[in-house]
Amino acid sequence: MSLLFSNCKLFTHLGRVNGDVLVGEDGKIAKIGHNLASDETINLHGKLLLPGLIDPHVHLRDPGQTYKEDFYTGTCAALAGGVTTILDMPNNSPPIISQQRLNEKNSVAKTKAVCDYGFHIGATDSNALEAQNSNAVAMKLYMGSTTGDLLVENENSLQNIFSTFKRTIVVHAEDNKCIKEASVAVYHAAENHNKMRPPLCAEISLKKAIDLTKKHSAKLHVAHMSTGGEVELVKQAKKSGLRVSCEVTPQHLFLTEEATREKGNFARLNPPLRSKSDQQALWANLSSVDCIATDHAPHTIEEKQKPYDEAPSGLPGLETTLPLLLDAFSRKRISLEEIVRLTSFGTSQVFGLVGKAQLAVGFDADFVVVDLEKETRVENGDLWTKCNWSPFDGMKLKGQVVQTFLRGNEVFDGENICVKQGSGKNVNWK
Ligand code: DOR
Ligand code: ZN
Repeated sequence: MSLLFSNCKLFTHLGRVNGDVLVGEDGKIAKIGHNLASDETINLHGKLLLPGLIDPHVHLRDPGQTYKEDFYTGTCAALAGGVTTILDMPNNSPPIISQQRLNEKNSVAKTKAVCDYGFHIGATDSNALEAQNSNAVAMKLYMGSTTGDLLVENENSLQNIFSTFKRTIVVHAEDNKCIKEASVAVYHAAENHNKMRPPLCAEISLKKAIDLTKKHSAKLHVAHMSTGGEVELVKQAKKSGLRVSCEVTPQHLFLTEEATREKGNFARLNPPLRSKSDQQALWANLSSVDCIATDHAPHTIEEKQKPYDEAPSGLPGLETTLPLLLDAFSRKRISLEEIVRLTSFGTSQVFGLVGKAQLAVGFDADFVVVDLEKETRVENGDLWTKCNWSPFDGMKLKGQVVQTFLRGNEVFDGENICVKQGSGKNVNWK
C-alpha cells in the first residue's frame, strides 16, 4: 500500500523542498512532487517533516548491563526523540571485541530493537585484524579510560590499529597518563571533573590520533569533541586533506562545567562538561563539525547518587537532542538545514550508511514530524530511557517530535511506541 505525506514542510541539509512525499510498499521514498496519487494520505497540516535522526554514538548496555538500559527501552527512547537509526558502542560488559560478540549483540538487538541499528567494535591491543574483517560499521578506540575496561595505550598497538583498520576509527581522545597526573592534585568531586580530566589531556590524545591517521592514511572520527583546542586540531587536519571527521554532543553544546555544581554526578561525563569559552568554540565552529551525537550513556539514579569516586560517568540524551536543537532554532541559534546536516546527512556520510538520511527517491522513508510551536518540559520520571532521568530536567523547550516513521511505518505517534519489539533492522554500510 502506498502512503502520501501531504501538506508538509520538507527540509533537507540543502534547504526547503517543495512537494508531498509518496512512500511505496517497500518503505522507500517513491516520489516527491505535487498531486500524487496514493492508497492512503497523511495530512501533516503544515508541520515540518525531516529525515529521521541517525545517532552514531549510543550505549544501550545490552547485553550485560540491562538494568541500566536494553535494546527495547533504548530504541524506544530513540524513536520518541526522532532517532530512527543508532550505532551502538562496544563498552558492554563483557566488551564487544570480536565477531562472535558482535553476533551475540546482534541476536539480542534483532529481537528487541524498534529502530534500525549498527554496531561499533572495540579496539584492544590485539584485535585490529579481526576488527577489520568483522561486520562492525566502525571501530571504537578508547585512548583514555572511561566506563568499562576498553583502553589502548601501547604505542605498537596503536600503530597496528591505524595501519590495519581501513574503515572509520572512532576515537575517544583523552590521554590516560595526562588524566592520571592531573587528577592527583585535584580534590575529587563532580564540580572538579573538568580539572580531573582537563582539556589538555583531550588535546594531547587527539594530536596523537591525528598523527597516526596521517602516518597510516587512516580514517578518523573524533567522538564528542569538547574543547576549543580540539576544534583547531580538527580544522587543521581537515585543511591538510586528512580523512578526519568529528561529532559534538548536545551536553557539550547546551551545558558547561557550571552544571556540575548544581547537578553533581548527574552532570558528569567523559569528556567532562567544559568552560563557557570551550562551549562557545563549538557553537562558533559548527560548520566544521560533521555530526551531532547524543552519546546516550544511561546509568541508574542510585549509581549517580554515589560518592564521586564510585559514581559512573555518562548522561542519557536520545529523547532530548532534537527538542534542544529545535529550541535553539526558535532562538535563531541554528538553522533547520544545519540541524538536518548534523543529525542525519552528515552522520550517514561519515559512516557510509546506505539508503538513509535523504529525502530523495529510493531512500528509506525514515521521517520525524516536528511541531515547531509545541512547548514541552523535560522531566525526570517522564522518559522512555530505563534510567528515567535527564541532565536537562526542568528545561522548557520549544519544538517537539510529534510522530516518527521508520521505513514508511508509524513507529511513534507522539505518545506511544506503535511497533513490536524486534522490528528494527541492521543498517547497511559501504
Ligand atoms: O561519560 C561517558 N560515559 N563517557 C564514555 O566514554 C563512556 C560512557 C558510558 O559508557 O557510560
Ligand atoms: Zn560514549
